[in-house]
Amino acid sequence: MDKLLINGGRRLDGRLRISGAKNAALPILSATLLTDQPVVIANTPHLHDVTTMIELLGCLGVDVVIDEKLKVEVTSRKLKQLRAPYDLVKTMRASFLVMGPMLARFGEAEVSLPGGCAIGSRPVDQHLKGFAALGAEITVENGYVRAQAPNGLTGAEVIMDLVTVGGTENVMMAAVLADGKTVLKNAAREPEIIDLGNFLNSMGAQVSGHGTETIEIEGVTELRGCEYSVMADRIETGTYLIAAAATRGHVRLEHTDPTLLEAVLERLRVAGADIETGENWIELDMHGERPRAVDIETQPYPGFPTDMQAQFLAMNAVSVGECRVTETIFENRFMHVQEINRLGADIELINHSTAHVRGVEQLHAAPLMATDLRASFSLVIAALVAEGRTLVDRIYHIDRGYETIEEKLALLGADVQRVSR
Ligand code: EPZ
Repeated sequence: MDKLLINGGRRLDGRLRISGAKNAALPILSATLLTDQPVVIANTPHLHDVTTMIELLGCLGVDVVIDEKLKVEVTSRKLKQLRAPYDLVKTMRASFLVMGPMLARFGEAEVSLPGGCAIGSRPVDQHLKGFAALGAEITVENGYVRAQAPNGLTGAEVIMDLVTVGGTENVMMAAVLADGKTVLKNAAREPEIIDLGNFLNSMGAQVSGHGTETIEIEGVTELRGCEYSVMADRIETGTYLIAAAATRGHVRLEHTDPTLLEAVLERLRVAGADIETGENWIELDMHGERPRAVDIETQPYPGFPTDMQAQFLAMNAVSVGECRVTETIFENRFMHVQEINRLGADIELINHSTAHVRGVEQLHAAPLMATDLRASFSLVIAALVAEGRTLVDRIYHIDRGYETIEEKLALLGADVQRVSR
């Protein structure tokens, strides 16, 4: 199993190109199921989760061709099956996103219920509530959800009980081919929802209001092929900014979009970072200073993202002062705390949603174990700061969501090696 060996104590310094967004590429790849025409997706990141989604499309009978620049051409003329098996769904929950498009186009879909997850229970009740509102009949049997609408879906008003990114995406994808108008209220406003809406519109859908809490979708009878480029990864961008801040460093990130990270940039400025932005770049400079401790509380977009909580907590661990980190989205997203404490941090879990951090001046190397995707990068940040050589185990979690991590960190001057033993 691969591990990362990190010789810490160096400031990150350099420039990087940010990859396409995993959490936009996954729903967009699912949405290609909505048309029988070829669709070309550019700026797809080279990640395990993307490979899993491509494998799932292949298993459904979709033709997928990938060129050397990771432009993905997808054609789903006829499907072999309308069933997403447990083996693939259990390795990646986003597999559940094929349900909306299959149901919309074929009037039927069967998808394994995603099982437990390291960061929380993560039910899919809101996805199913949306499909039912559009007229699908839902049954759950032997661990599979079956949705049927033999006469097609019908537009309706759908009010989400809570803000859910995946639920909003799945219902949007189901509604684009429904008969009539769907109004989706209390929708998630994440930039990845905007990217999906824009992609659907490039295929000929009539989606409006994406990026606000009310999305309107006028159903159309069919969608066409198109060529689309996935948005920049705001979470990867924020992660490298936080890593640079934690190491008192200086980075310039390119091919990104600063407007998608306002809550994170604001918190980094409070931590003492000098930040400049341009149309598609962000530069952060700590001028060699230790960050100041900064409270954060995760919220749906445009609030502070849960997907950057662990990384920010790692930075706070070496900050000047004390602060609170509050997680409001997932009920078990502090697994990294015990690991970072192994390096000599002083983080106390007050309860399942709050951590109290007393910043320490120095961390010291120790073996660490990654538990989930974003948490694993928080361990890398802590290891980059720590004196000595830290071995981070189970980095397959990182490979799910961060493209060529050791190469990118090396470009910033880090001493990082992938080892297999
Ligand atoms: C997406 O997950 C992201 N994944 C997650 O990123 C991200 O952490 C999350 O949104 C929140 O921003 C992808 O986009 C592929 P949710 P998703 O539905 O859609 C509850 C990463 O590291 N809920 O917005 O699964 C749920 O339990 C990943 O890249 C219900 O109760 O998240 C959670 O507490 C991790 N019922 C909250 O809503 C439902 O039907 C938000 O979940 C659906 C969700």
